[in-house]
Amino acid sequence: MPKHFRSLQEFTKIELLGLIDRAIELKKENKVGKIHQQLMGKTIGLIFEKPSTRTRVSFEAAMYGLGGQVIFLSSRDTQLARSEPLKDMSRVMSRYVDGMVVRTFGQEVVDELAAYATVPVINALTDLHHPCQVLSDIMTVIEKKGPIEPLRIAWVGDGNNMANSWIQAAGIIGFELTLACPEGYAPDQAILAVSRNIAGKPITLIHDPVAAVRGADVINVDVWASMGKEDEQEARLRVFSSFQLNRELLAKAPADCVVLHCLPAHRGEEITDEVLESVQCAAFDQAENKMHIHKAILESLIG
Ligand code: CP
Ligand code: NVA
Repeated sequence: MPKHFRSLQEFTKIELLGLIDRAIELKKENKVGKIHQQLMGKTIGLIFEKPSTRTRVSFEAAMYGLGGQVIFLSSRDTQLARSEPLKDMSRVMSRYVDGMVVRTFGQEVVDELAAYATVPVINALTDLHHPCQVLSDIMTVIEKKGPIEPLRIAWVGDGNNMANSWIQAAGIIGFELTLACPEGYAPDQAILAVSRNIAGKPITLIHDPVAAVRGADVINVDVWASMGKEDEQEARLRVFSSFQLNRELLAKAPADCVVLHCLPAHRGEEITDEVLESVQCAAFDQAENKMHIHKAILESLIG
């Protein structure tokens, strides 16, 4: 059975922090121009049913940076769009490539591909999880603030895929997480229950963004309407208007608090241009770290 990366929940704290340590090491080596060849002769398939800039390019750059090769398939390019069963696609792809990196809508698509694959399947975002992104974001927090366990992390906005992966990380690694989401936009209740059960620190769900950011070492924001929810955009603009991370809300947090945004950002909606461009915002470090984390994941699963 290959080891998959469907969500953070299938990893231990030691494994997750080990991937981050390795990514930090690979980043240092990358800065001094060290050549890596450990995935020479290996190929991954990227199967993307939603758009992507960062995740696609950082996975491709990571694979080439380790000496491997990439085949990119959008939903237009495969027989999936013409209803070829996932279980057939998975077994066929497994004969050609050494790993599949999948961005899609339902988590069940990743789970079914993994169930039939004889090579690792990596979740590059579903409606339910964005595990590789949150690992890159925790790496960024550790670089800026040191170990994450004593820190207070805030989430302000939609209880979406990113929020769910942060909840899983808080449960496994053990750090305080406070999520402020509007009524009716809570994260996944099952994920919350499992994570609270294993967490050594509180994972709290509230509706007040000011209470969430007060005392926070890190504030996370993300778009109000994720991919696939575009038809709810207008309604969400109204519901989320008091959840914008602007100068006034940021002023309620400690002055050295780090702002995270996985990007792409909608300036003037979930975050103002001023906050996104401020020295407190680490969004572009997060984006860079995706490449180093993806190298560590690929090396560990496919190497
Ligand atoms: N953060 C992130 O996943 O960005 P992309 O949608 O551009 O891949
Ligand atoms: N929550 C966002 C993340 C984008 C990287 C979405 O799913 O669209």
